[in-house]
Amino acid sequence: MNRRDFIVNGCAACLAATAVSGLLSSCSTTRYASGALGKDGLTVSMEEFKIKKKDRTDYRPFIIVRNESLQYPIYVYRFGETEYSALWMRCTHQGTELQASGDQLQCSAHGSEFSNKGKVTNGPADKDLRSFPVTVNNNELFIDLRQA
Ligand code: FES
Repeated sequence: MNRRDFIVNGCAACLAATAVSGLLSSCSTTRYASGALGKDGLTVSMEEFKIKKKDRTDYRPFIIVRNESLQYPIYVYRFGETEYSALWMRCTHQGTELQASGDQLQCSAHGSEFSNKGKVTNGPADKDLRSFPVTVNNNELFIDLRQA
């Protein structure tokens, strides 16, 4: 391979790698929603979960609801059309905001991990996450913030 071939092939490999990483990052983009805060809780459109493709609709496994009135975001996981969990993204160890990674939540402070139902799967945290009841109503989710 001469120098010119090396540069041309090298650039093609770079472009391919860039395209693949772009595809991967677009697949894993986290969806943030603000939700409408009422007296008893938050309302979020179920449309936030939809990924519309040319010939079908896919669904995000989870979204993160942030609202300026909330101290921490809420991770909302979709198990199915009518089954969701809503979890307070505050680590039960020492209160660090959690990171969502697919169907797990992780704490960057000391490594605690939680499932998409809020159960501790890795310490040092020893308490499950605070969770909120979710009800489905007319294409909207209502996250009831009155109960712990
Ligand atoms: S604050 Fe989350 S593991 Fe310590």
